[in-house]
Amino acid sequence: MNQSFDVAVIGAGPGGYVAAIRCAQLGLNTVCIDEWKNPQGKPSLGGTCLNVGCIPSKALLESSENYERAAHKFSAHGIKVGELSMDVPVMISRKDKIVSNFTGGVAMLFRKNKIASMHGRGTLLSSSKNDSGNNRTWRIEVKNGEEAHTVEAKHIIIATGSTPRQLPFAPVDNARILDNAGALALTEVPERLGVIGGGVVGLEMGSMWRRLGSEVTILEALPTFLTAADAQVAKEARKIFTKETGLIIQTGIKISGVKTGEAITVQYADAEGKAQQREVDKLIVAVGRVPNTAGLGAENVGLKIDDRGYIEVDGGCRTNLPNIHAVGDVVRGPMLAHKASEEGVAVAEAIAGQAGHVNLDTIPWVIYTSPEIAWVGKTEQELKTAGIQYKTGQFPFMANGRARALGETGGFVKVLADANTDRILGVHMIGPYVSEMIAEAVVAMEFAASSEDIARIVHAHPSLSEVLHEAALGVDKRAIHI
Ligand code: FAD
Ligand code: NAI
Repeated sequence: MNQSFDVAVIGAGPGGYVAAIRCAQLGLNTVCIDEWKNPQGKPSLGGTCLNVGCIPSKALLESSENYERAAHKFSAHGIKVGELSMDVPVMISRKDKIVSNFTGGVAMLFRKNKIASMHGRGTLLSSSKNDSGNNRTWRIEVKNGEEAHTVEAKHIIIATGSTPRQLPFAPVDNARILDNAGALALTEVPERLGVIGGGVVGLEMGSMWRRLGSEVTILEALPTFLTAADAQVAKEARKIFTKETGLIIQTGIKISGVKTGEAITVQYADAEGKAQQREVDKLIVAVGRVPNTAGLGAENVGLKIDDRGYIEVDGGCRTNLPNIHAVGDVVRGPMLAHKASEEGVAVAEAIAGQAGHVNLDTIPWVIYTSPEIAWVGKTEQELKTAGIQYKTGQFPFMANGRARALGETGGFVKVLADANTDRILGVHMIGPYVSEMIAEAVVAMEFAASSEDIARIVHAHPSLSEVLHEAALGVDKRAIHI
């Protein structure tokens, strides 16, 4: 293998593998180094997203939704099902197949684009002594067990991602106390499932196992629920998740200990400070993720890491070192796969002399619960804090023909627009398939659209997109169907 490259990418998650492909498309001789192994001990490209994140979680969410539909929703359509049962190992193996198809697909894309793929841990070693500034060559050690190679590259893209944050009093063994990998691999439905952390992983995994029959208790430290979302959306979500999905959600709690005996006992103080305890059979710990820089060799080359462990970068993902960029979960900004990939593309284009750019203000968020939650731009509480005058338009799914036909009428769409210019500042959605609907709002915001622009665009009937249309009309108090 050629050990000298234009670009070495460390990490083959959605940040790294996409960066590598774009570099190769631009004619750069590229190597991608990744250490991920699947449960069978085989190299598996795609990082967190493909192996234990976005893709497997959505596969299981879909299975559990189908089960839920068959159990509770088909009857309204006149569809009668006999005794219903869930074969969890079949569901898990379907998920595993989807994962292996995708991870194998990345390997195929690497071959197609003539990207050298090296399995092992990449550690930054040094830069060439005789060159300085932009002409230096960087050296990386790639270690796989006892085998070690050194590769040289003019440019490095660090895309080492993140790992689950640990709680010292609840050590993950992925047998009873689980992180996201364990929560995606259970082979039977736990009777009582506890979740520490009411964030995105907690809600997605919690609702998935709830739908299959677990009693799910989510214990969240913050007094507010889903703090990152628009407060009105978060309120609606909490109402639906507790009343309809059946999740038990407690906010403002403080965990004092976790004991493992026959059951797992979580001891905590509730929002009033009263001592409580809850027994569960499995416990998911989903309290955020930490950037992955351990063992990267940052200290060998003087790469700056901030006090929260993120690699310091500027708006163009440039680190403090010449020709070393960093993208994705390992740098500031939302920990989302599409954000990582777009940064990967932008950096590859910048290396090739083009003008790569990512607008962090229009990154869409989606939470794949039922109903789904999606947003882009500012929340109402952010606009209030910033003292920005705004107008709102809101429309419920209940008044939409397609939502009625689907039998999914919970939730609404809210458009926030500047009070003076009418420019859209944020769009917030909770309802069916809003993961797909949010794209229109992202495009609108990227093109600096006003709410009137969306209001004057023809939307197909009957479609869920009409809810966004009516919400945009509502900004000017001229929604038709309400
Ligand atoms: P990662 O995907 O973490 O990849 C980093 C890769 O680098 C890994 O393969 C790692 O093994 C490798 N690596 C690390 N250090 C080294 C080293 N020194 N040498 C060699 N290799 C190294 N995001 C969404 O946008 N949508 C979703 O629906 C979604 N669902 C999620 C569900 C779950 C359960 C979880 C946990 C996350 C989810 N995310 C989702 C977040 C998403 O997975 C991450 O934002 C995304 O994977 C980040 O991509 P990345 O390339 O920065 O890092
Ligand atoms: P998160 O940051 O979304 O939520 C963690 C929650 O745990 C927070 O609400 C926090 O207040 C709470 N918490 C922290 N310490 C606690 C403690 N000691 N006791 C109780 N609660 C505590 O993190 P999560 O859910 O682990 O997900 C990590 C990241 O992965 C997300 O932020 C997101 O970037 C990404 N992700 C994205 C998904 C998507 O796009 N659909 C799906 C899943 C994950």
